[in-house]
Amino acid sequence: MLDRDRMPRHVAIIMDGNGRWAKAHNVPRVLGHNAGMKAMKKIVDHSDKLGIEYLTVYAFSTENWKRSVEEVSGIFKLLVKYVQSDLKELIENNVRVNILGDYSAIPDDARASLEKTLRETHDNDGLKFNIAINYGSRDEMRRGISEICQMVKDGEIDPEDVTEEMIGAHLFTGHENIPDPEVIIRTSGEERLSNFLLWQSAYSEFVFVDDLWPDFTPARYEEALAIYQSRDRRFGGR
Ligand code: IPE
Ligand code: IPE
Ligand code: MG
Repeated sequence: MLDRDRMPRHVAIIMDGNGRWAKAHNVPRVLGHNAGMKAMKKIVDHSDKLGIEYLTVYAFSTENWKRSVEEVSGIFKLLVKYVQSDLKELIENNVRVNILGDYSAIPDDARASLEKTLRETHDNDGLKFNIAINYGSRDEMRRGISEICQMVKDGEIDPEDVTEEMIGAHLFTGHENIPDPEVIIRTSGEERLSNFLLWQSAYSEFVFVDDLWPDFTPARYEEALAIYQSRDRRFGGR
């Protein structure tokens, strides 16, 4: 049973299994991604209801460009559809949307809709909903290290002044002061991070569930969070 008084502040989710869901239903992969968007919508609403402060979802990785042009453009079209059809609801629910990743690289129409969503939800102070798009943890660290190297080069700091906090602040999550996720959930039975939040997950609990992402319901979400609550987090102490 989920204990509502011990909710994590930040939940991160690797939404995996849309392709296998499509295969199992004998439909094109893009319909799997469409079903995945519907599942995501419910999880966003439910996170808000549970009083979670930060929800981060992995929507598109820096490696996902390896997929076919049809699949990639299909994913971005769906993203536009989601943010356009849901903008009103996100605003009503006081959700603040933030993007992790270099979204300058995504198609123009998708970028424009995302920017509109960022602007129009900017002042909301409810659930902080972070969408990782064209996100890769190694790319994120490379950018941060490069910025810090520039500060050294400009004489603003010495190399020995580099702190863990400084590195964290130069990551995409640092730009918005997002705390490390207490729990990372991955669906579809795969048990790996696939370049997601490598720095931020140093002490995260991992919950792997077999459901394919489109089948992941709010009830299954609560079960995954209850598994997180059953863990004994020690942070290296005794
Ligand atoms: C996750 O589902 C969505 C993205 C990576 C964009 P997949 O498309 O990876 O689904 P599987 O792993 O092929 O089943
Ligand atoms: C991770 O899933 C990326 C997203 C869910 C967006 P992938 O399906 O791309 O990961 P791998 O290839 O199985 O590691
Ligand atoms: Mg996958």
